[in-house]
Amino acid sequence: MSVTSIDLVAEIKRLKRERNAVILAHNYQTGDIQDVADYVGDSLGLAYHAKETQADVIVFCGVHFMAETAKIVNPGKIVVLPDKDAGCSLEQSCPGPALEKFLQDHAEKNYYVIAYINCSAHVKALCDVICTSGNAVKIVNKAPQDRPILFVPDQNLGAWVMEQTGRKMDLWQGSCYVHVEFTRDSIRKIKEQYPQALVVAHPECTQAVRLLADEVCSTEKMVTYCKNAPVNDIIVVTESGMLHRLRRECPEKNLIPGPTDRCACADCRYMKMNTLQKLHDCLRDLSPRVEIPEDMRARAEAPLLLMLEQSR
Ligand code: 13P
Ligand code: SF4
Repeated sequence: MSVTSIDLVAEIKRLKRERNAVILAHNYQTGDIQDVADYVGDSLGLAYHAKETQADVIVFCGVHFMAETAKIVNPGKIVVLPDKDAGCSLEQSCPGPALEKFLQDHAEKNYYVIAYINCSAHVKALCDVICTSGNAVKIVNKAPQDRPILFVPDQNLGAWVMEQTGRKMDLWQGSCYVHVEFTRDSIRKIKEQYPQALVVAHPECTQAVRLLADEVCSTEKMVTYCKNAPVNDIIVVTESGMLHRLRRECPEKNLIPGPTDRCACADCRYMKMNTLQKLHDCLRDLSPRVEIPEDMRARAEAPLLLMLEQSR
């Protein structure tokens, strides 16, 4: 670590105490951000931590919908994120007005709407319950039997949950631009290089890739899976930031990034917009802040709280 980044880390820690702030970071953040965070985890763990924190300020190192989720459950707290433009292709694939129109056009269906947490506050406000990759199976299993399910916005996670639960759902045709870059060929090739390796993949991957995996799970469950795996080599088919978290938690394992057809690993350009400098600046300036119109926030909170209750 350079002298400048040591100074920056010290200043971040000082500002954090001064502001009574907590730093929450997603598993896909860069290593330097993960190392300065109070908690690093998946969307579900982050949602629980955001709900339970006693801090006055939440600094959310992740993408915008994650910081927005923290604000939905903490209307009285200041929630900042290092880069306000850190979006998500899944969120973009299901704009609130488009879902609103779809539900109006199909009102006769009386859909039970399950929204993957990777969506805007507007979409959350339109749904019945939220889920993450860590609890999607549990949430779908608890859905009412007498209503058809509309699952938004990730068709790949939705298809995987259908396989796991046997429950038929109508799927919004969104996808994560990072996870669909992994292909059957790219994963087959790396498996040939490491014939003894196990493969763990995120459920946002396509079915062709999931079929090559020994385990499909959320980023947090990958930590437990890798710790307990009976082999040394594990191919990790998800965003590259996960490797930092896994190498810290499982130093004895050989953790191999899943390649795409073009690159040796896959980066989410949105997650990587956050830097240590921007983290410092947002703590210092308490900006950019997440703000949500109160009526929308209140409508989005109910399905989020239902998720937290149902996934305990
Ligand atoms: P997890 O909740 O599994 O960490 O996934 C979040 C995400 O954005 C995956 O691309
Ligand atoms: Fe969104 Fe994909 Fe990036 Fe996750 S990896 S934040 S789903 S674009």
